[in-house]
Amino acid sequence: MAREFILSPSLLSSDFGNLQAELEALEKAGLQWVHWDVMDGAFVPNITFGPPVIKALRRTSSLFFDVHLMIERPERYINDFAGAGADLLCIHAESTIHLERSLSAIREAGMRVGLSLNPATPLAVVDYVLPQLDMVLIMTVNPGFGGQSFIPFCKDKIKDVSAMIKARNLSTLVQVDGGVTLENARELSELGADVLVSGSAFFGYPPYSTRHQAFKTAVLG
Ligand code: DX5
Ligand code: ZN
Repeated sequence: MAREFILSPSLLSSDFGNLQAELEALEKAGLQWVHWDVMDGAFVPNITFGPPVIKALRRTSSLFFDVHLMIERPERYINDFAGAGADLLCIHAESTIHLERSLSAIREAGMRVGLSLNPATPLAVVDYVLPQLDMVLIMTVNPGFGGQSFIPFCKDKIKDVSAMIKARNLSTLVQVDGGVTLENARELSELGADVLVSGSAFFGYPPYSTRHQAFKTAVLG
């Protein structure tokens, strides 16, 4: 059965020289979320942007800032991202030693709380902290780059985390990030994804309103 879904375009594939214009274009195209991939060159090979860039663009945008941290020891920067205007802060289970403390700190800083898992990380890490999460991010590529291919075994993980959430009557969102395309969007939604992140399959195909509509049609029919 098709379900409602949110598309969160990943700015990693946007024009970094015109981020303000890109955000305006997304808003005009009817998008509600935007996905910021923050990379530190240590947790992942790439380096992108950090709180000052997000803060500068926060002033000009009312999109929901969905911030995906791919950085080591993210607990060091939680208040900076809150100050920059992140709406949701998603950290990797593999990047922090005291996971529960880091997740609580995100909540205390006034943001929605997200937990991301690399493809090979077992779902067990979600178990005890699930009630304190607004969103679980299932990575379906190894993080660090846009334009990679979807790793097929991750489909089981999307199904399993979604079953775990339903079994406990929680409203935690399931986000899927990496290798999402028009072709697999519907299947991912049916497996349990509420929020699909798309970088290369979105920004590579303007105009954004047409592409947004194409994703909606693919998922909802
Ligand atoms: C990967 C990032 C993704 C990436 C997705 O490290 O977390 O958000 O930008 O890009 P595509 O949709 O091209 O796989
Ligand atoms: Zn991401």
